[in-house]
Amino acid sequence: MNILFKLGSIELSNRIVLAPLTRFQNDDEFALIQKLNYAFNYAERALVPGTLLISEGTVPHIFGLYTDIQVSEWNAVTDAVHVKKSFIFLQLFGHGRVDTGDVQKSIYGPSAIANGDGPVPKEYTKADVEQLIEHFVRASTVAVTDTGFDGVEIHAAYRYLIDQFLQAVSNQRSEEYGGSIENRAKFLFDIIDLGIRLSPYSEFQSMKYLNPYPQFSYMISKLQETHSNLVYLHFSVKEYANTHMDGLVAFGRYFVSNPDLVARAKEGIPFRKYDRSTFHNAKSPEGYVGYEYAPELKGKYF
Ligand SMILES: Cc1cc2nc3c(=O)[nH]c(=O)nc-3n(C[C@H](O)[C@H](O)[C@H](O)COP(=O)(O)O)c2cc1C
Repeated sequence: MNILFKLGSIELSNRIVLAPLTRFQNDDEFALIQKLNYAFNYAERALVPGTLLISEGTVPHIFGLYTDIQVSEWNAVTDAVHVKKSFIFLQLFGHGRVDTGDVQKSIYGPSAIANGDGPVPKEYTKADVEQLIEHFVRASTVAVTDTGFDGVEIHAAYRYLIDQFLQAVSNQRSEEYGGSIENRAKFLFDIIDLGIRLSPYSEFQSMKYLNPYPQFSYMISKLQETHSNLVYLHFSVKEYANTHMDGLVAFGRYFVSNPDLVARAKEGIPFRKYDRSTFHNAKSPEGYVGYEYAPELKGKYF
């Protein structure tokens, strides 16, 4: 295998990464359903050895990585990816104020500020915040030590829990987790582990930085100083991929409909169009299975 890129101790053969893609494939107890289908799904996308996959966003303390069953189910996934000599990171996140009531019984957020016309969340107490941090740390540890993940990506983007702490529009706390750039970033720094995903420009669900530079300059400098084990920063900024050839590029939608996306890119085979209507078929594998590899790849890749 030709090594093109190193992420810490991980050696990658190509710059294409499977972006995190939530699939709502948990049962009502938040265990993965159709474990084997699921493992197969990820493994299919690990066709070219040395490819990096990022798992769908998982909430540490509920669905995700908490019970023994969840650990064993995710183990099947990581094993299947490793058999292909590829790598997988777990993405961890929380919903905070954009929860729809499925995950939390009551809606909580960093401050009692609603997402648009949504319900006004209750403000997390200091004890709640400490418990959330503990859940993230525990899930990160279990991911790497017991579940075979090659790393953890902390999802701090796209209006979810950590983004809500980072932005003044959703965080008006007066204690150590709010009130200044440093304080708003404290929640992130208290949980951060290996990889991290940030979205400076997203305005979805009532989020918006007046100017993202001060908050992001502070965080990037502090990460460089204090987190030598951080192996990447994952930015949701489309323009970056068009102008920089030195990083990794994550694909989401086209990786859904092209499990052989890396091989297609290498061989110049056009990507198959995706079907958006099947992206969020809760509890059904429809939309994720059944996409065959391109016949031209037969013999060389499978
Ligand atoms: C079905 C679906 C589920 C997604 N779930 C997540 C997720 O769990 N975590 C995350 O950070 N981004 C998620 N995203 C965003 C993707 O990771 C990616 O950033 C987005 O699809 C843009 O990349 P693309 O143009 O290659 O599709 C999701 C996107 C789609 C289409």
